Formats: sequence, C-alpha cells, structure tokens
Amino acid sequence: MEAHHRKVDLSNDALLRALAREPTDRTPVWLMRQAGRYLPEYNAARARAGSFLALARSPALATEVTLQPLERFALDAAILFSDILLLPDAMGLGLYFTEGEGPRFERPLRDEVAVRALAAPDPALELGYVLDAVRELRRALAGRVPLIGFSGSPYTLACYMVEGCGSDDWPALKTMLYSRPQLLHRLLEINARAVTDYLNAQIEAGVQAVMLFDTWGGTLAHADYETFSLAYSRRVLAGLAKMREGRRVPSILYTKGGGAWLEAMAASGCDAIGLDAATDPASARRAAAGRVALQGNLDSAALLAPPEQVRAAVRRVLDAFGGAPGHVFNLGHGVLPRTPVESVAALVDEVRAYSRMLRSS
Ligand code: CP3
Repeated sequence: MEAHHRKVDLSNDALLRALAREPTDRTPVWLMRQAGRYLPEYNAARARAGSFLALARSPALATEVTLQPLERFALDAAILFSDILLLPDAMGLGLYFTEGEGPRFERPLRDEVAVRALAAPDPALELGYVLDAVRELRRALAGRVPLIGFSGSPYTLACYMVEGCGSDDWPALKTMLYSRPQLLHRLLEINARAVTDYLNAQIEAGVQAVMLFDTWGGTLAHADYETFSLAYSRRVLAGLAKMREGRRVPSILYTKGGGAWLEAMAASGCDAIGLDAATDPASARRAAAGRVALQGNLDSAALLAPPEQVRAAVRRVLDAFGGAPGHVFNLGHGVLPRTPVESVAALVDEVRAYSRMLRSS
C-alpha cells in the first residue's frame, strides 16, 4: 500500500520506465555532466564556495548545483553533483586539484604496503556529506524527476588510485597490472566492496537509479577488460539493493571505449548500458538482445555547433536507436566546458519533440 502510494509520488517516471524497457510517450533525456562549467550559475556557485571540492562537500551547495540544469532545461533526471574521486579520498588518499592539471592524490598506491593498508570506508562516517546531499535533494526535488546516484567502477577508481593523477595510458597502473597482477586484484576486491557499500548507502539515502562510470575500462587490452574491469563491476552490480520505495532501483553500466564488449556488459547484471559516441546504436541493440536498456550516445562535441545542427544531430541519434522502448537519450561522454547553453536547450527540446513524433507515427 505504502509502496503504491509512493510510486505515484514521482510525477515524471519516464527515465525509470525506459530503463525497465517499458513504453514511454517520448524518449527520456539527461546529460552526463549536466551541471558544470558551461553554466554561468555553476561557475558563480563554485566561486562562492571557493573550490570544486568545497562545492562537492557542502550538501546545500551540491543540492543547489544539482538543480541548476533542471531550472533551465526539461530534463528527465537529476544526477547528484559529486565526483567519483571522493570515494578514494575517503579511503585516505588525499584528493586535491591543481589549476589546469585536474585531480591528484597526495598518497597514490604504489606498493604492497599501501594496498594492504587500504580498507572500504563506512559511507555513513566518511561520506556522510554525500548522503546528506542525497536526502536534501530528494526533499528539494519533491518527486519532479528521479535522482541518479553514481560511483566510479572498481577499475576506473584503481586507475587514479595507483597513478595518482589522470593519464592517457596509465603507466603506473599498467606496470602493476603486468608485473604484480595479484596485487591489483587485491586492490580491485577492496574497491568492489567500497563501491558496493557506497552505492547501497546512496540508495538507502534516496537515489532512484545508479550509474557505474567505467571511464577507463576501454584502455584495457581485450582479454584484460573482463578480468580486471567487468568482473569487479559485476560483483558490485550483484551486491546492490534492487528495490527501494516499492520500485526497482535500476543500474547503468557505462564503459568509455566499451564498444568491443557490449554483449558481456549486457550480461553483467546491469539494467542498462551506457554507450560512447563511437558505438553504433544498431549493433548495441543487437548486443543487448532485449536484456538491457541503452543510454547514449550523441557526440559531446556536436553541441559546439549552432542549434539547427544540434537538432539535426539529435534526430540522427534518435533515428539510429529507433522507436522501440528501452532508450535513454544522453551524450557519449560529459558536456564539454565550452558548450553553449543554447545548444543544450536545443538538444533537450528536440529530443522531446522528435521522439514523441517517432512514437506516434
Ligand atoms: O554529471 C554530473 O553533472 C554530476 C557530476 C559529476 C562530476 N564528476 C562533477 C565534476 C560526475 C558524474 C563526475 C564523474 C567523474 N569524475 C568521472 C566519470 C565520468 C567521466 O566524465 O568520465 C571521472 C573520470 C571524474 C574525475 C574527474 N573529476 C576529473 C578527471 C576532473 C577534472 C576534469 C574536469 O572536467 O575538470 C574532475 C572534476 C570535476 N568533477 C568537475 C565537475 C563539474 C570540474 C571541476 C571544476 O569545476 O573545476
């Protein structure tokens, strides 16, 4: 009874319906990095907070920034404003940002002693500010749209934790992988436990869907993707709470550069796979074979063109996915910092109008 009553509380459930591959009267849309530097009000909030980390660590400011894109655009989901690197920070690695250089850790994991000393944190104790932001957001959203929580995948987190900073080819991580594979497995086991606990804490606090970002899984050699990335994402997916408030809490697995492993991803236990822009929607449909929904995959750079070209690019993506249920419109990766706000407005408007027309024709 209670469950049924709460279900009605979500006034826009298009995202959850599409993730469940149920019919919707249009394709739901949200964007990775929908809150961020392309929005002047984001930059103002960040300046007020003093830094990105201060913004992410304040539940009130994180709530404000999460809602900013929803005030401008008719998006079908909110994604918690946070960062995947706050989990390793809570594990004691010391996250900091240097201007123009991106994220860094003070204490990267380079040897056995460091890995042995690592433990999965208690989210309520070490990441309480994230859970507070989730609770505050649910109150502020009041059922307007669902709230998506997220984490980095065990492998993608390990990349930053071993390397100590971002990289294109991850030499420190790959050195560990090829010279001490068992040590990397030990780290991935700890990360899988930490990610599972963290996502379950977010679900308990109120997120209505979760996304695993495996941003660097695509840098693995073909056989290593399964062994070092997917095996641990699968473990996380198996350990997640499946229901909350009488509804399924769907999970989305995104691997940037994951086009070669779509079938394995579709069999991983997730409800949907996130596709990058290099992936052909038709081959993703075949790989999914009705088992999972698909999310994606307009090239983020398409938003650098004028609104009319943005609209045409949106229509091409919608045509490629077709009108069958089980598609969530998104970019192939995050919104780029120099994206014009009008491009995002044109994208959202075109997804709503054109996908409704596709359904009714
Ligand atoms: O999508 C959203 O709107 C929610 C917020 C979000 C952020 N980071 C905010 C952020 C999400 C989902 C992330 C995930 C994240 N963080 C990933 C996985 C997804 C992806 O983009 O591949 C990764 C790899 C990171 C790590 C990270 N955080 C990097 C490499 C950087 C620096 C690069 C950059 O874009 O500046 C960050 C910082 C960061 N995280 C910013 C934002 C808005 C920019 C910080 C700023 O304002 O200066």
